[in-house]
Amino acid sequence: MARTLPGSRGGPAGGAPAAPARRGAVARPTALMSVPTEAMLRDAFAADVTEYLRRTPRQLPSKYFYDELGSSLFEAIGRLPWYRITRAESALLARHAREILRPLPHPVSLAELGCGSGEKLAILVSSAVDRFPLIQLVDVSPAALDTARYRLEALGVRASLAHRATYEDGLERAARHRPAGASLLVLFLGSNIGNFDPPMARDLLARIRRVLRRGDALLLGSDLVKPERELLLAYDDPLQVTAAFNRNLLRRINDELGGTFDLQGFAHRATWNAGARRVEMHLVSRLRQHVRIAAAGFELTFEPDETIWTESSYKYEPSQVLEEGLAAGFGRGEQWIDRSARFVLTRFSVPV
Ligand code: AVJ
Repeated sequence: MARTLPGSRGGPAGGAPAAPARRGAVARPTALMSVPTEAMLRDAFAADVTEYLRRTPRQLPSKYFYDELGSSLFEAIGRLPWYRITRAESALLARHAREILRPLPHPVSLAELGCGSGEKLAILVSSAVDRFPLIQLVDVSPAALDTARYRLEALGVRASLAHRATYEDGLERAARHRPAGASLLVLFLGSNIGNFDPPMARDLLARIRRVLRRGDALLLGSDLVKPERELLLAYDDPLQVTAAFNRNLLRRINDELGGTFDLQGFAHRATWNAGARRVEMHLVSRLRQHVRIAAAGFELTFEPDETIWTESSYKYEPSQVLEEGLAAGFGRGEQWIDRSARFVLTRFSVPV
């Protein structure tokens, strides 16, 4: 039976068809893990938008890409021939599922940070649905959580718990809900780690390490450094789906915060920053323009060519991933590499 936390789904953006409510199975939030209301989320969005757009250079946090439309656009990106991360990782998971799960004491509970539509989780789970007493889903997008829960239910998964939360909060909640007598495998896939600059990435890995116990593990997916032309095609695709994904952030500000961004007035730009080993996405103002954001009580003027930096996607070397794991308090990691797409899965286990 699928379970969900009150407040972990729904709201104006939760447009996917609702599952029938199962009252008896709903977990009660304790005071410690109160779920933010829609109004609190909107206030936090407004505060972040103001703070980040005031910075030099202007920025917006990439976690706000993932409203219902943004999550769907990312699903489409995963199917583009030029963006190989999703396919490469899915193939590695399908091929090595048993090996990946091998050191974990049975039964294994799963928690995926940034699960999106749950497609990759389903690949791992379908190998042995009965092995997993509880599967926890963490995502900022209620629509994505709904899709993931349906997918798991269709596979015959008995218990899932959806947390509409950032990685940090979701990790804490998942740790608190881990079933007794099961090991925990935390999944942090799709190179989501790439959105964090190196100190923040190390901090997040260390946080994950701290909630794990003996016998638990982290499975981390990281995209690898590759030729610049491949990276630029992946982040500036000829179908311009990535451009739509990037501009959707401005559309979201317009819709949710009363913004007046002219979407045509901003061009999508992807660059490879070789020194920092990251792809950057920017929105470039095509002209001098004035923008108001009513809900934030904020106004700003863009000069021609002025940019908003919306995302960093750091790229790694396999050895560097192992080093980061060590620095975060993990022992040796085990890796599975797609040498053609240049993508690596690393499992960091906590010895029993
Ligand atoms: C979901 C954060 C891993 O950085 O590659 C895809 C998001 N941005 N195309 C990435 C994204 C542009 C993606 N992550």
